[in-house]
Amino acid sequence: MGSGQTVTVFGAYGHTGRFVVAQLRETGFVPVLSGRDADKLRALAASDPGLEVRPASIDDPASLDRALDGVDAVINCAGPFAMTAAPVIEAALRAGLPYVDVAAEIEANLDTFTHFADRAHAAGVVIVPAMAFYGGLGDLLATAAMGDWTAADEADIAYGLSSWHPTPGTRTAGAVSGERRGGRRVRYTDGRLEYHDDKPTLLKWPFPEPMGTREVIGEFTMADVVTIPSHLSIREVRTHMTTEAARDLSAPDTPAPAPADENGRSDQTFLVDAVVRSGGTERHAVASGRDIYAVSAPLAVEAVHRILTGRTRTIGVASAGEAFDAPDFLRALSPHISFELRPQQPVS
Ligand SMILES: NC(=O)c1ccc[n+]([C@@H]2O[C@H](COP(=O)([O-])OP(=O)(O)OC[C@H]3O[C@@H](n4cnc5c(N)ncnc54)[C@H](OP(=O)(O)O)[C@@H]3O)[C@@H](O)[C@H]2O)c1
Repeated sequence: MGSGQTVTVFGAYGHTGRFVVAQLRETGFVPVLSGRDADKLRALAASDPGLEVRPASIDDPASLDRALDGVDAVINCAGPFAMTAAPVIEAALRAGLPYVDVAAEIEANLDTFTHFADRAHAAGVVIVPAMAFYGGLGDLLATAAMGDWTAADEADIAYGLSSWHPTPGTRTAGAVSGERRGGRRVRYTDGRLEYHDDKPTLLKWPFPEPMGTREVIGEFTMADVVTIPSHLSIREVRTHMTTEAARDLSAPDTPAPAPADENGRSDQTFLVDAVVRSGGTERHAVASGRDIYAVSAPLAVEAVHRILTGRTRTIGVASAGEAFDAPDFLRALSPHISFELRPQQPVS
């Protein structure tokens, strides 16, 4: 796939960064290991000899320029992205390189669209924020489900996670986002983001078998409320989360994900049901797989591969669903993700 093209991974030694490095290797790219801690980078390189190490700090633009010098693309896996996205995007723009990140932070993703759309477009550079499980996959599914529709009344993305053992990075990102919104909740309604203090509601969500109907926390808002409306004309976009997974995330003593197979994936599984509704009709796209962190790696690497082979539909800042042919992208992720478009049906 990569034919020796080089990709700097910023945040290479983080939990997700390691999966991205491994995926790049496996698909024929040459990862360049970057991040703020030279010792951790060297330790990672020691376990994977031959890889180049280029320490860099978000406070030092020259170090970021060195990290990106002569490479073909950059994937940013270092969060909180409220801090890291802008400096790494600035470096990518200086170098004229495609930039992909795995940010799951609603406000940080919005900032990327708001602050960089014009400059990235003018520079002819592709920037894809949230190119990961949250933000990326839901957007690809909603886009695939739309098919020939150009607009819909509403979209719901229901996350059926068996459990959610969060990494330290997830917890920090949640804390930073929570602070930015003053502890309030957020939803996307009537065509805009709205901050509110309504209590969470519990719903029964009819996931496809074998999962079946499960309790979810309604409007457990994830980055899809930025990515989907960035290019699809849908005024109500909601995301929901299985109650067990939401509880795992909020409990302070839930352990970090533990490797359970030879690829380092945990045994946690997911099923994502994306539904779009227009008039009296609904269309579903469904994805399932294992380990939300590990699966972010094929999502990000497939994005880089498509950008570098000219298979993008736009330039500038674009979400996954806008940048790529969504059904084709999702099919290409097999065997990491099983993907199914279900027959159109009356609204249930
Ligand atoms: N959208 C999604 O579905 C999705 C999927 C996976 C991950 N993520 C996001 O990706 C981020 C990383 O997650 P993770 O699971 O890999 O967490 P992790 O294992 O805790 O790794 C966090 C990484 O970020 C680095 N980092 C933190 N602050 C930094 C800064 N100011 N400058 C440079 N590097 C910094 C850390 O370096 P140090 O060790 O030096 O602190 C570490 O390499 C989180 O924000 C998470 O929410 C999103």
